[in-house]
Amino acid sequence: MTSSLNGLALACVVLAPTACGSGPHSPRADAGADAVSLINTIVGMAVDHRTRRPKLSNVTGGLSGPAIKPVALRMVHEACRRVAIPVIGIGGIQTAADALEFLLVGASAVQVGTANFRNPRACIEILEGIEAFLREERIAAVSDYRGTLSR
Ligand SMILES: Cc1cc2nc3c(=O)[nH]c(=O)nc-3n(C[C@H](O)[C@H](O)[C@H](O)COP(=O)(O)O)c2cc1C
Repeated sequence: MTSSLNGLALACVVLAPTACGSGPHSPRADAGADAVSLINTIVGMAVDHRTRRPKLSNVTGGLSGPAIKPVALRMVHEACRRVAIPVIGIGGIQTAADALEFLLVGASAVQVGTANFRNPRACIEILEGIEAFLREERIAAVSDYRGTLSR
């Protein structure tokens, strides 16, 4: 995906949930991308046991939302440790706490998708929740919190 921000062209590679790992589709920091975003939807399937037919017209479809958050969090965590470019965390983010979890494991930014369908104010509430959290914890900037997961 390429987007333009104030005339600056950015190339952002979107990774599928199968992209991480040691295989040929591992994120490559030297591949020329300015940032990497993950994860996309996970391929799922639904069938009707009475009609014996697929519920989705394409038989399979992309699973998004809260169900994929643990997978997304794990993959964003791994990606942040492997690449030097910014990582955008995506997958099941519904609340400020969800967004903070992705920032905690090292994401530079987050994307909110499915949550907007249920709550059109989701992004505003997440932003306000992050600001409130930083105030409560007396953290001056998101950058002071980002990537500070301890083990
Ligand atoms: C309706 C819908 C359309 C989407 N379209 C695209 C798309 O065009 N390109 C893409 O890379 N990902 C697309 N996605 C995947 C999202 O960008 C995102 O990776 C995924 O939904 C997980 O985030 P979420 O749980 O916040 O929705 C789409 C997701 C949904 C639900």
